[in-house]
Amino acid sequence: MRILVTGGAGFIGTHVVAALRAAGHDVTVLDLLHPKAHRTAPEGGPLLRADVRDAAAVAGALAGVDVVVHQAALVGMGVDLADLPEYAGCNDLGTAVLLAGMARAGVLRLVLASSMVVYGEGAYACPRHGATEPAERTPADLAAGRFEARCPACGAALEPGEVDEDAALRPRSVYAATKTAQEHLAAAWAAGAGGAVAALRYHNVYGPGMPRDTPYSGVAAIFRSALQAGRAPRVFEDGGQRRDFVHVTDVAAANLAAVDATGRAGFRAYNIASGRPTTVGDLAAGLAAATGGPEPVVTGEFRAGDVRHVVASAARARRELGFTAAIGLAEGLREFATAALRA
Ligand code: UD1
Repeated sequence: MRILVTGGAGFIGTHVVAALRAAGHDVTVLDLLHPKAHRTAPEGGPLLRADVRDAAAVAGALAGVDVVVHQAALVGMGVDLADLPEYAGCNDLGTAVLLAGMARAGVLRLVLASSMVVYGEGAYACPRHGATEPAERTPADLAAGRFEARCPACGAALEPGEVDEDAALRPRSVYAATKTAQEHLAAAWAAGAGGAVAALRYHNVYGPGMPRDTPYSGVAAIFRSALQAGRAPRVFEDGGQRRDFVHVTDVAAANLAAVDATGRAGFRAYNIASGRPTTVGDLAAGLAAATGGPEPVVTGEFRAGDVRHVVASAARARRELGFTAAIGLAEGLREFATAALRA
């Protein structure tokens, strides 16, 4: 098939493009090559250097395309509220321009890179009250080392569970709000245009080519960069916060599987995760062991707005996309210990 990959020069996009090409698809990349994220362009096929907000460039790029895989976005938590217009512009206006162009060109199949951040906190149950939405942790809670989410009714510590795709969306950062808006725009577009959307809610992606230590990097790259410099990874809170770290090669495989899923009309979201969650403390220890670097330090520091646990149910992607992550954390970290990162 002819596939347009926006953001195909980025960390995840590069792996997606490679997987699609290896499967025999004819891939064109549209990427801004934003100086904050890129030094080099991917090789091996056409690259259009353009902003996804540029309607004329998008219209040109869509000619003859069967499926769009939309990875282009500003990522991370956002550092400053002054970044709000840039996040909303790149992620939401950009998606709107793309969707309008697709409708006009009659390109009706979309794979959207979404994120687990659309959920906010993960799923929780109270031992007494059952499934429960936790209250947001206050700065006073965090400063006192009360890291676990509590039941709003009785104050008991909540048990974390697996979040599935039907969970309510409660974005809690600017970035998360823009990812949620992307999903809503894509769903409205699918309904209006008769299009098909597979929205892939990536959990914590890591692997070769991950951007190194920047305010926008995920914790795996931050730990890896520290270890490489001979410094101990600094584990925030008590290290017991749970995430699902999924290898970028698996994420690329999920995109390949999702291209086929866009044969069915309508909007459908999928958790893209390893299905084998871990704690941030165990991630740090595993990576320190794999690199032979210094033992992690649990600092008790915390970041405002951080969620405590987000752990996915990978069942829908397995059932409907036939996607199961192949790379376990131990194997992935052995490779990640020496993999090249992006400057
Ligand atoms: C956050 C963002 C997500 C983004 C991801 C990677 C939100 C709500 N979350 O998710 O959009 O994709 O970052 O950029 O917008 N930690 C440490 N030590 C460090 C740094 C982080 O222990 O030096 C901890 C954090 O406190 C957190 C965990 O590691 O508990 C994971 O952090 P991170 O990799 O930033 O990812 P998320 O919080 O899952």
